Amino acid sequence: MLPKQIAEALNKQINAEFASAYLYLSMSAYLNEVSLVGFANWMRAQYEEEVFHAMKMYDYVLERGGTIKLDAVAAPQQSWKDIIEVFEAVLHHEQEITHSINRLVSLAIAEQDHATVNFLQWFVDEQVEEEASVSELLAQLKLVGGQGSGLFMLDREAAQRKFIQPQV
Ligand code: FEO
Repeated sequence: MLPKQIAEALNKQINAEFASAYLYLSMSAYLNEVSLVGFANWMRAQYEEEVFHAMKMYDYVLERGGTIKLDAVAAPQQSWKDIIEVFEAVLHHEQEITHSINRLVSLAIAEQDHATVNFLQWFVDEQVEEEASVSELLAQLKLVGGQGSGLFMLDREAAQRKFIQPQV
């Protein structure tokens, strides 16, 4: 049985993952609007990845006999200054998510819930990957000044991204 405090914290994280999904979907729509269709595709894959994160936690809570309590997801921001501002916001958001995953791990350790500590390791690794890939993209965008033919090339590369659900 999942300790009550852990179930509550996981429910909060499920909400944060759906809020991330919603934010990235909003960014995808914005990028579409400004004709960066490759980045719009990249962000839509990011949205799908966040829904996967939420559902991975959802399934775990149920598997451990915990209660799911879905909460409201706030309306996300809808427009940004430019593509660099979008990716700065993504990086900042992912850093916040990393903090909340770390707090969850600390709570699970304090509660001696080793199964949850183990479960969360996947998310710890995932956050390292997420922060690294977003930092790299942001650096490349800054390198080309977020415009011109450099941006066009990066947009074409971003069009290749597809979300492939990991085998779990
Ligand atoms: Fe689910 Fe991007 O962290």
